[in-house]
Amino acid sequence: MALAAILKARHTRVALRKVSSMREQTFTPVKHRLRDNVRAMRASEIEEPALNDNGRPILTSMWIPTNAQVQEYNQTPFHAAVTFTGRTFPHVIRKLVLLYSDAGDLVYDPMLGSGTTLYEAFMLGRRVTGADLNPHQLDSIRERWRQHVNPDVPVIHNGDASSMFCEDGACSLIIMSFPWYSGWRFGESKDNSSMENRQTIEGFMAQSLRIYKEAYRALKSGGYICNILGNTYREGTYYPVTMKLMSIIEQAKLTLHYQFWNSRITLENLREPWNRSALDTNIKKADHGCGWDIHEDIIVARKP
Ligand SMILES: C[S@@+](CC[C@H](N)C(=O)[O-])C[C@H]1O[C@@H](n2cnc3c(N)ncnc32)[C@H](O)[C@@H]1O
Repeated sequence: MALAAILKARHTRVALRKVSSMREQTFTPVKHRLRDNVRAMRASEIEEPALNDNGRPILTSMWIPTNAQVQEYNQTPFHAAVTFTGRTFPHVIRKLVLLYSDAGDLVYDPMLGSGTTLYEAFMLGRRVTGADLNPHQLDSIRERWRQHVNPDVPVIHNGDASSMFCEDGACSLIIMSFPWYSGWRFGESKDNSSMENRQTIEGFMAQSLRIYKEAYRALKSGGYICNILGNTYREGTYYPVTMKLMSIIEQAKLTLHYQFWNSRITLENLREPWNRSALDTNIKKADHGCGWDIHEDIIVARKP
């Protein structure tokens, strides 16, 4: 009898614990549960991918940076001195350079911005050059290069990406990051040819086609072109810019080679308050005429 009472009491305690833990789950807001799961996944640090026998990174199609990779912005003197906010992750450029070029190859960036491609490709023993429409970006690159890299600054040019500063077939790899079709002006260029000034998606795509046709001219046969950019939500409409670009690339007679997805934040950063809006399903909350995906696409094409 006494044993039965003990067992019953124990059973009741276990049942109560179950109910209370179910209640906890029920009342934990969805976004916090997602955050906690992500934290648990994060427990095993995701390392920089290993290189295969040919020195190329072994990769999946989804790239999620580690905190250490993101902190490169602040720890590499050339990158740390940048004030421009529309820059590309250094580790992303590094992977693309390793995947699609060899030491001694010419790597070209027609939209240099803060010069991430110039620096990372140079550090990997590639020949480097490029251009930007905004002369202030070029001044900033030259100044930081002299101060943090070398007194000899690579030759870089002021000009439109639809006219690249190189011989026909000279480039093994072109890496570029288009301004997003967002209406946001990171480069602050007043020049009308700036892609940041395109007010319609048709205008944006027409300019993209001119740039890809020019890239066809500049690339050697078998050379690659990588574009790192995102899709945008603007004034109530979602623009799948990267999908539209696929047909532009084909119109320029280039072959689509691959597509990667790059997370712009670490798993750890998913808990940061600024990103809550991305976890909310109601995107309108974050909408001030423009919204951001938290990933960007990397579209890789090849000249046949
Ligand atoms: C997204 S940023 C590039 C970021 C760069 N990858 C970095 O890491 O800093 C785009 C750049 O393209 C430049 N740009 C915009 N339209 C251009 C055009 N038609 N020709 C050349 N550069 C252009 C802007 O001045 C800006 O510096």
